Amino acid sequence: MSHRDGMTKTSSGFFVSQEAPIRTDDPVQTPTSPAPDILRCAYMDLVVTDLAASRQFYVDILGLHVTEEDDDVIYLRSTEEFIHHNLVLRKGPVAAVAAFSYRVRTPEDLDRAVAFYSEIGCRVERRPEGFTKGIGDSVRVEDPLGFPYEFFHQSEHVERLSWRYDLQIPGELVRLDHFNQVTPDVPRAVRHYQDLGFRVTEDIQDEDGTVYAAWMRRKPTVHDTAATGGDGPRMHHVAFATHEKHNILAICDKLGALRRSDAIERGPGRHGVSNAFYLYLRDPDGHRVEIYTQDYYTGDPDNPVITWDVHDNQRRDFWGNPVVPSWYTEASLVLDLDGNPQPVRTREHRSEMAVTIGADGFSYTREGDDEAMPSWKQGEYKLGNQL
Ligand SMILES: [Fe+2]
Repeated sequence: MSHRDGMTKTSSGFFVSQEAPIRTDDPVQTPTSPAPDILRCAYMDLVVTDLAASRQFYVDILGLHVTEEDDDVIYLRSTEEFIHHNLVLRKGPVAAVAAFSYRVRTPEDLDRAVAFYSEIGCRVERRPEGFTKGIGDSVRVEDPLGFPYEFFHQSEHVERLSWRYDLQIPGELVRLDHFNQVTPDVPRAVRHYQDLGFRVTEDIQDEDGTVYAAWMRRKPTVHDTAATGGDGPRMHHVAFATHEKHNILAICDKLGALRRSDAIERGPGRHGVSNAFYLYLRDPDGHRVEIYTQDYYTGDPDNPVITWDVHDNQRRDFWGNPVVPSWYTEASLVLDLDGNPQPVRTREHRSEMAVTIGADGFSYTREGDDEAMPSWKQGEYKLGNQL
């Protein structure tokens, strides 16, 4: 049986099928306790080593709005947000992620989160007063994949600034869109997050069924989080949305004018996966931030799952522009509940970089073409060519 049985090839070059054409032979135990009802990714708790440098990057350059701040912590939000914050910058000794935080539908969902994770032996900590300012009763866990996950319902409301055009800049960040997590075993991660209630919207596989990455959603967009295959647990990026493509170009222009073009790691471009327009930046600690806009609605129960071939050079950039190696290899540490970095495990499955830009890698623009891509387009699969 082929791994592509049940998938239909589309005229766009990718495959579609129904829910999750992903199987794992090493599953995390499925809890019998029901999962908490997650609404959406809500905020990231990020440790930075130089708070002033981070403030300049996220506030002065990217224009996130300060809800509150003191000498050690800055609470930031995007334009459309009405909960207290979407990003916490916390001064600390090691640049890392302290929590991937999700909002749940009801206060009772926090009891469900405690039961769900306790049943499978995860470390769980609940604080009725919350872990961060402006957020009430919260549950933090070290999830079975090693990620620090947080769940909360209650949040202080703040003013939604959508109508305050006087405060907005050409590159305005309007919403928190998603997280992206690096994990060694993508099918194991997907199965676990499905148990937690996530739906797969897109993935990248090869013809043998190796899964390189998967995108998963609660809110009806392409994702709230994604699992990217690599050494982990690590944080690949946190993504904010702009309204339109031109807002992303304005961020590039601003970085250029400020002589900060070295903050641009990859893009701007059009993703194949998600169909969104994108830009990847690196903050002063190297944390990766994506600016993202215009993916598509995914809320129907029979939303088709899209599978991209790992060798399709339009999967990660629809214009076929090369992915820089750092984007595949570098990511941020994540912390345990004591604030210590989680140990990083090596990915044993095939690596996307090796099969596409390593010595043996290959990619195609038109499947079935016998001719190699022109030398000036080979950055995707011959490492030296893009230098
Ligand atoms: Fe992303």
